[in-house]
Formats: sequence, C-alpha cells, structure tokens
Amino acid sequence: KGDSGLSEINLLKTQVSILERKLDTLQNSFSKYKKVIMFPNGRIVGEKVFMTNGYESSFENLKQRCFQAGGQLASPRNSAENTAIQQIVALHDKAVFLGINDIRTEGQFQYLNGQAITYSNWLPGEPNNDRGIEDCVEVFADGKWNDRSCKETRLIICEF
Ligand code: IPD
Ligand code: CA
Repeated sequence: KGDSGLSEINLLKTQVSILERKLDTLQNSFSKYKKVIMFPNGRIVGEKVFMTNGYESSFENLKQRCFQAGGQLASPRNSAENTAIQQIVALHDKAVFLGINDIRTEGQFQYLNGQAITYSNWLPGEPNNDRGIEDCVEVFADGKWNDRSCKETRLIICEF
C-alpha cells in the first residue's frame, strides 16, 4: 500500500513537470504570435487591444464598423492608451477619430456610453469648435487631439 502510494505521487510529479514544460512552450509561443498579429496595425495596452484595418471614413461609419466587429472606436482612458493610438497614427501617417464627441451637448465631450471624459490630450487652443461644426476628436501623429467635423474622413482604430 505504502509503495503504491509513493509511485502514484512520483507519477503525478512527472506529469506536473511535463505540463510545466508544455505551458512554458505555449507561453513563449503565445508571446511571439501576439507580436506577429499586432504588427504593424495593432497595439496591446494591458487588457486592451487597439487595431486598425486601414479603413477610412466619417465618424458614424467608423463607429459602426467597430461595433459590428464586436469592439468600439478607440477611446483612450490614459496616456499609455493614447501613446498606443499615437504609434498607429504615426505608422500609417493618417489621423484617426476617437470614440469621443460633444454631439449631445456642445463643449461636453463624452465617451460613446455617454460618460464624461476623464482623460484628454488637447492641442493648445483646442477644442475650439471652429466654425461651430466640430463635435468629433481627431488624433495627430504627435498624439495631440483636435476637435474636428465628424463629416471628415479619418482612419479607423477600434479597441477590443
Ligand atoms: C483648422 C485649424 C484649427 C483647428 C480646426 C481646423 P483649417 O484647420 O487647424 O486650428 O482648430 O479644427 O479645422 O480648417 O483652417 O484648415
Ligand atoms: Ca478644432
């Protein structure tokens, strides 16, 4: 009885160490494929993934595309997330629209869920609602924000 208990423990030890090696291989391989999949259109920040597919259109179309894909238009909540978006903008050399606007109440920028924004990175002098028609938010290659007409065409970045 004692002997068979011991050999069962040894068997389990062997199986655990085999699993540990397999998990290690899997983790290394997963970390590599994350890089492969993210290049050059995506960025990972914590649990959030930002991704463009190169599509360009007006705000409503961009918003719809992201929702259809099961995500939403990129809505940076802090400077790390904004930097990820900036890097995609710089790589593609095309400004993007964020999932932020003041369509509902002029001057009160909110996320797509209606919550007031808690982070921003406006250029000096912005938002200025130029000509009274700027309710959307574009991000330039330096990461800075400008309010702009939602009818303009900009690059899509969704977050998942
Ligand atoms: C405008 C300027 C302005 C900014 C507006 C833009 P435009 O460009 O860059 O500083 O606040 O959002 O529309 O229309 O004069 O080429
Ligand atoms: Ca502006």
